[in-house]
Amino acid sequence: MSRFTITRRWLVNNLGVISAMLFAVVIGGILFVRSYYYSAARQYLTSRMNMVSSILQRSYNDPSTSFSSEIRSVAVNWSEKDKTEIMVVGNRENIALTSSGFIPSEDLDEMADYAQAVSNGANGYYTGRISTGEHIMAVCVLLPDNDSGYSAIRLVSSLEAVDRHIAAIAVILAVICLAVLLMMILSGSYFVRSIVIPVRQIGSTARRYAMGDFSVRITKKNDDEIGELCDIVNHMASELALAESMKNEFISSVSHELRTPLTAIKGWAETIGSMPEDAETVAKGMRVISSESDRLSRMVEELLDFSRMQNGRFTLEKKTMDILAELGDAVLIYAEKARSEGIEIIYDEPDMLPFVYGDKNRIRQVFINVIDNAIKYSDKGGTVTVRALMADADNIEIDIADTGCGISPQDLPKVKTKFYKANHTRRGSGIGLAVADEIIAMHGGSLDIYSEQGKGTTVTIKLPIEKKNDNAKN
Ligand SMILES: Nc1ncnc2c1ncn2[C@@H]1O[C@H](COP(=O)(O)OP(=O)(O)O)[C@@H](O)[C@H]1O
Ligand SMILES: [Mg+2]
Repeated sequence: MSRFTITRRWLVNNLGVISAMLFAVVIGGILFVRSYYYSAARQYLTSRMNMVSSILQRSYNDPSTSFSSEIRSVAVNWSEKDKTEIMVVGNRENIALTSSGFIPSEDLDEMADYAQAVSNGANGYYTGRISTGEHIMAVCVLLPDNDSGYSAIRLVSSLEAVDRHIAAIAVILAVICLAVLLMMILSGSYFVRSIVIPVRQIGSTARRYAMGDFSVRITKKNDDEIGELCDIVNHMASELALAESMKNEFISSVSHELRTPLTAIKGWAETIGSMPEDAETVAKGMRVISSESDRLSRMVEELLDFSRMQNGRFTLEKKTMDILAELGDAVLIYAEKARSEGIEIIYDEPDMLPFVYGDKNRIRQVFINVIDNAIKYSDKGGTVTVRALMADADNIEIDIADTGCGISPQDLPKVKTKFYKANHTRRGSGIGLAVADEIIAMHGGSLDIYSEQGKGTTVTIKLPIEKKNDNAKN
């Protein structure tokens, strides 16, 4: 229903107005040309008439000539018979004499010029059709009162040729306007199509995106606003496709992460069940079950935190805390795992650092996430160096550097994005850094990653130290 509104709007607003204007120009042009030609014709008739009048006036004033024979001679010898005709009106309001020699049976009532001359006692003018249908122009001058037998003299000219001329000009004018209109329609419809067609294409492509098909792309035709829109929509589709694949990847890796400890727990539970008397196996099994359950609950906790963050229901329990204690804990938790994987953790714990006002469990979780990554993305023989120092007077800096696989420059800006994994060879949900970054941001700090592919990665966490009024805020 709303399919053609731009075209229709253009037709009405633009073309409608222009057509009306062109129509006005044609009508105005015709009227102007007509009045110009008619006034030129009238001027011509009037000048001829003045000439005739002055000849007759001279004869009238000269008593040696016969006024009536002078009138006849003027009419009969009229030199411009091809253009105009002289008609002499007799005393009985009849046409008494014409320059063509032909006396029309014209009713004097039709001679409005004569009537006008009689009514104002001097001269008259008339344009119109006579009974034969011919279009004429006539001027009339009354003759001085005398006994010549003639009362007035008329000069009549046919307007047919002038009218044909005007009609030809009107046709030319109309053709020019039609051509202009046609050009407007062509260029306008090209312009409208250049908008409407890509917009429709964008619309149908967007509908496919809405149905989950992100494979189509719009071909950009011009480097204009529409082209830019195409680029934006294409970029949006790429981002949506990436988000979609990241989400799918996330689901599969989380399922995998959950299944691995569950398999271990179930396996050990069955082993213990089948040989409850073997105290050593039972003890070892129980250890595995306990540590795998810890891993499971950590992961579920992380997922819950993540979902709380998405909903905006993630809260901190801030207290005055010792950052070194949490960092030491996190290093300790991973010491065993690092040793078993042949990775050395170097940590020179400084004696003292100022306190931080924050949520110690969350901060420890951040350290665990980052150290976990450092070990996970390092190979046997690598080292993880942990340092804690004052960055400046107000901030503590914790650096966790590894000699692992590193992150490519293309991936580096995105690794803090939820679900984003640059490296699919190691297990993980891809939300660890997203959660860690959010937690640090909520403490007014910053988490920055510096990495060189193949050489290693350094994560630098900066946290502001506790200020005097931090406690009062709570
Ligand atoms: N220390 C590191 N060395 C190399 N790559 C890392 C390191 N830390 C993070 N990454 C990259 O950043 C991505 C996101 O990390 P993270 O959010 O913790 O997800 P996960 O650990 O579940 O993969 C990882 O998939 C990995 O590609
Ligand atoms: Mg991680």
